[in-house]
Amino acid sequence: MDVDLVVVPDATAAAVATAALLVDVAEADGSVVLAGGSTPRHAYELAAAAHSDWGGVEVWFGDDRCVPADDPRSNQLLVREALLERLVVGPLVHAVPTGLPPEEAAAAYDAALRDQQLDLVLLGLGSDGHTASLFPRSPALDVRDRLAVAAEPGLEPFVERVTLTIPALESGAHVVFLAVGEGKAAAVRRAFAEEPSPTTPASLVRSSSGTTTVILDTAAASLLG
Ligand code: 6PG
Repeated sequence: MDVDLVVVPDATAAAVATAALLVDVAEADGSVVLAGGSTPRHAYELAAAAHSDWGGVEVWFGDDRCVPADDPRSNQLLVREALLERLVVGPLVHAVPTGLPPEEAAAAYDAALRDQQLDLVLLGLGSDGHTASLFPRSPALDVRDRLAVAAEPGLEPFVERVTLTIPALESGAHVVFLAVGEGKAAAVRRAFAEEPSPTTPASLVRSSSGTTTVILDTAAASLLG
């Protein structure tokens, strides 16, 4: 396996382990790419409670849905509610400009990401093996000259998205996947214990010069053998 595996008893312990990594970044005034979806919410809440001064931090998004920033499907909203609004001193937040058409939003995010150092890249995993908004067999998987692109709605919610590309994600000094629950177990096996394949985009994302860690609860790890 080309990743460091951290298997903990349950989803709460996975959130605790993930929050600790986020706090490390906050204490070091580092830069972090945050994941959307529902899984990381608890980790964001714990990180905010543990360290309330994120004044030196830069926050990016691995992907966002092209919806208004107060739409319940927005990853920005998740991060605002679970993390940013709970801090005493907030970070510099680089939100995806989701008010623009997806191609324009992606071009703007691509330009903003140029020459940025990303210390921690936190990613989720879909049951179909997607990560960020890189979906199975998507043409976005082949993009090497952009750091962000517009992405097709690959799964619920079926809205257009902007996603970081593999070159952007793999530039992270520490890439961390967080997945919990038995519904993720088959995707976990394909992403981390089988040959890399465009049918499982997460299998294609590893830190190119640093480390890749996978945080799982025992249910998500149950098919790893
Ligand atoms: C998104 C994501 C996506 C997510 C996975 C897992 O915006 O949809 O960033 O890649 O991490 O779909 O989502 P859950 O945590 O909800 O299972």
